[in-house]
Amino acid sequence: MISKSTIDKVYEAVRVEEVIQDYVQLKKSGANFKGLSPFTSERTPSFMVSPVKQIWKDFSSGKGGNAIAFLMEMEQFTYPEAIRYLAQKYNIEIEETAQSEEQKEARDHQESLFLVTEFAHEYFQRQLHEDPKGKAIGLSYFQERGFTDETIKRFKLGFGGTVWNGLAAEALKNGYRAELLEESGVCFAIEGVQNGNEADGLRDRFRDRVIFPIQSTSGRVLGFGGRILDSQKKVAKYVNSPESPIYHKAKALYGIHYAKSAIAKANNCYLVEGYTDVIQLHQRGLENVVSSSGTALTESQIRMIRRLCTTITLIFDADQAGIRASMRSIDLILAEGLNVRVLSLPEGEDPDSFARHHDLEEITTYFESNQIDFITYKAQVLLKEANDPITTSEAIREIVKSIWHINDPIKRELYVRQCVDTFQLSEAVVYKALADIEAKEKRDSRNNPVSAQPKPLEVVQEPEVLNKKDRQKELERALIEALVLYGAQVEVFDDEFLEPDEKTGGLVAKRSLVESKVYEKIYLDLQQDEMRFSDPIYDGLFEMLIRFYTEEQGEEVGELLKYLEKQQKEELVAPLSTIVFDYERYTLHQWERKNIYPKDRSDQIAQQVSETILSLRSYWVQQHLEELQKKSAEENEEVLEEVMDYLMLNKVLSKRLNRVLTL
Ligand code: CTP
Ligand code: MN
Repeated sequence: MISKSTIDKVYEAVRVEEVIQDYVQLKKSGANFKGLSPFTSERTPSFMVSPVKQIWKDFSSGKGGNAIAFLMEMEQFTYPEAIRYLAQKYNIEIEETAQSEEQKEARDHQESLFLVTEFAHEYFQRQLHEDPKGKAIGLSYFQERGFTDETIKRFKLGFGGTVWNGLAAEALKNGYRAELLEESGVCFAIEGVQNGNEADGLRDRFRDRVIFPIQSTSGRVLGFGGRILDSQKKVAKYVNSPESPIYHKAKALYGIHYAKSAIAKANNCYLVEGYTDVIQLHQRGLENVVSSSGTALTESQIRMIRRLCTTITLIFDADQAGIRASMRSIDLILAEGLNVRVLSLPEGEDPDSFARHHDLEEITTYFESNQIDFITYKAQVLLKEANDPITTSEAIREIVKSIWHINDPIKRELYVRQCVDTFQLSEAVVYKALADIEAKEKRDSRNNPVSAQPKPLEVVQEPEVLNKKDRQKELERALIEALVLYGAQVEVFDDEFLEPDEKTGGLVAKRSLVESKVYEKIYLDLQQDEMRFSDPIYDGLFEMLIRFYTEEQGEEVGELLKYLEKQQKEELVAPLSTIVFDYERYTLHQWERKNIYPKDRSDQIAQQVSETILSLRSYWVQQHLEELQKKSAEENEEVLEEVMDYLMLNKVLSKRLNRVLTL
């Protein structure tokens, strides 16, 4: 692991504008720099960098953050990879925290496996491009499938050779140990051969097969898929590397190295079944395509994709197995917080053949106009066979089950409505079905605690902050903005307490001026109601901001970004920089328009904060009241009491708000 002091040194040295200048041409624009977004293909620059705040914001894609976030976005680096890159750029020596002997050994062992895999990989490529037999058999096979030489090189395809231990002999000769050849899976041992020559005891796993190397996100070869040439033979069509310390098939995505930037750019990932499907589409120029290659889609694979985009489009064969696989994948994807769409190809086509028969424009047109959302897809598949009320309701229940997997309440609601419209049901029926599923899953998970439970809420998309109609969201945003910009600042608030009245003995409201930090005021006031922000992003930001100010005694936006990364809340970094930049644009805009310095907004901080808190609280109270009033139809006394309480509170809040507004 990289030591904390190295990380600190990197943060001290790094200048966001210097890092970004390696990728984007930046021009000075007031206190900021401006350039063309590297994440979209825009023509007018909307990519901003603030050297003062050390952050960037891309208004065309909504992304933003500090230098580290930029590299993670641009290069798809992990956090440690970004730190290593920056250390190199700024000549900072990387200090590793002490590793135990075991950790060191494991790392060395993994490294050796990578090396032997790399050796095999080069051997396979030599066999394909240099060996006469390999060329005749392997290369011509790929060419017949329509792969260009450029594609064959780009995807580093190979051929396993025709000798039964050709790779084994060459690797041993080059000093690679037999155990490593076995463990990496490129060879396997056979029993009973003991005539002194070590290579005789080994067999090449991929002999007589064409090779598809499986690479990590950063391009390292992890393992191989080998396809038999002769379809007559009664052996498996594909042989893949076995599991090893460097190859876990559940965590690999074929093509991810070549697809990652296209996926991020399109904010969409196509998922196909096979190696050849990926390659053929890439060759045509559609590059946001990967494959889970023969395994059922896994959570780890979905999470890899989630780092890059928010929607997965499934392309499965239209046969029974394909449909079953897509049904399963839909729920998994929804449970991981991503959107899912499904694309069916014309009868008898797979992506490989479809790409061979069409050009890029035809492919994108077809793909874009034929993908459908999961409800429509499931309805098509399930209702085809349903022809009576019982099977129909089973089908609908099956669809509602997918909705149940969605954790985001807003999305859930939208899909419930779609379900209502599609099947002409009442909302109540759909919610009832959801509740039934919830209850059943709860029962099941009690009986079987490890069964899949919905994950805690996680949303990657930025909220639609500019939608003025949504007053509540606007208020939530205003509070977060105040927390970000002035959280640690001390202000004087006009506050109100309830005190016993000396004469009557009842409680009366007393006003007084209270000095406190902005974050304390906000936190204490909101805490009274135990309400949560309606927007999950703001909810997440609120929690982190409060922790930042209380636990870290933080003061500055720059530190805050670092803190979010440390807490692995990268999804909050972009919304945060939006807030900071919007503020900057506001001040700049005012200044440009009137040619005067804007009235410093900080003049009215205390009043604005109080006003926002009160408005928001009264929103919440109203909402809560509505909910309670629905319930109180059941004449529950406790509920009624609560309703009365809230009505009182609402009155008090309105009165106070009125006063703040007329101050
Ligand atoms: N697969 C596998 N092992 C098998 C069969 C399939 O690992 N025995 C995986 C491979 O990753 C393959 C994918 O499942 O690419 C899809 O299988 P299939 O459709 O049979 O193969 P294609 O890729 O379409 O291969 P081809 O077009 O060459 O027949
Ligand atoms: Mn195929």
